[in-house]
Amino acid sequence: MNLARFPRVRLGHLPTPLEPMERLSKHLGGPNLWIKRDDCTGLASGGNKTRKLEFLMADALEQGADTVITQGATQSNHARQTAAATAKLGLACHILLENRTGSDDPSYVHNGNVLLDQLHGASIAKRPAGADMQAEMEKLAEALRGQGRKPYVIPGGGSNPVGALGYVNASLELLNQSVDMGLRVDHLVHATGSAGTQAGLVTGLKALNSQIPVLGIGVRAPKDKQEENVFVLAERTSTHLGLDGVVRREDVVANCDYVGEGYGIPTDSMVEAVKLLAQQEGILLDPVYSGKGFAGLLDLIGKGHFDKNDNVVFLHTGGSVALFGYPDIYGLPGYQA
Ligand SMILES: Cc1ncc(COP(=O)(O)O)c(C=O)c1O
Repeated sequence: MNLARFPRVRLGHLPTPLEPMERLSKHLGGPNLWIKRDDCTGLASGGNKTRKLEFLMADALEQGADTVITQGATQSNHARQTAAATAKLGLACHILLENRTGSDDPSYVHNGNVLLDQLHGASIAKRPAGADMQAEMEKLAEALRGQGRKPYVIPGGGSNPVGALGYVNASLELLNQSVDMGLRVDHLVHATGSAGTQAGLVTGLKALNSQIPVLGIGVRAPKDKQEENVFVLAERTSTHLGLDGVVRREDVVANCDYVGEGYGIPTDSMVEAVKLLAQQEGILLDPVYSGKGFAGLLDLIGKGHFDKNDNVVFLHTGGSVALFGYPDIYGLPGYQA
């Protein structure tokens, strides 16, 4: 596997740290919990999209683009990191935000990621819940072409075979770190949404014959659909790498029991998980992705899913900026954490 043959621009502070969570592991009585700090990728407060954007932005530049279009839910971390990457590279950025949760809370609509999108100079347009966002982006791209611009369209979450290379690269990074540290990784757990993170990880870890099982904790789709989305993208990513067939269907495992009422809608277990990690390890999760992912991990630990001596790595995919879009979950007057 030779990732160096794919164009890449450096945007992230890599490698991200791989750290033990000693206090939390002790508090829970095992397993040995580790955290891979992709919340520290550096770009506009970091997150998993930075790795994908290293390959996507290089592709955009190679194609001569002067403008990037992407989309996401209102508090999209992907949109924020794309806005920052385009700013760094001197490209224009148009973001379409879908009101997927239906929230009209002013903090949700204007603060957190939305505030930062604007700060990085992106233009924002809103679309109602359920809009065909890919079609909306194509429409905008057509209009911009008519004005003589050269737009590059990035799918939601940066999840296509080019973006997923960022997480193939992360799998290589994780394995190198674990070898250097003498750490046997027994499980890798993370939040999964638009599928690119898990597809890239599974492809890379299989290609490198790591035998580390990956568990994606879903934040939106039901299990069958989520696993299918990840598998299809992993197959396309493998083909892009010249490694056809390296991922089998059974290598893709998602647990979607922690979504709650729906995408972006807080759950009690998420609220508790975010608080626990903040107070045990001084690490901030987010309400939409990593908070639900970590809530799933905690619940599975409680149910005895892991052996007490297992080394379990949680990939922290970032997103804490979105906490400011949800002030009510902790910020009510008189709230005592
Ligand atoms: C903080 C955070 N964690 C996890 C994910 C899920 O990653 P993916 O969309 O690659 O499945 C996202 C995606 O938007 C995210 O913003």
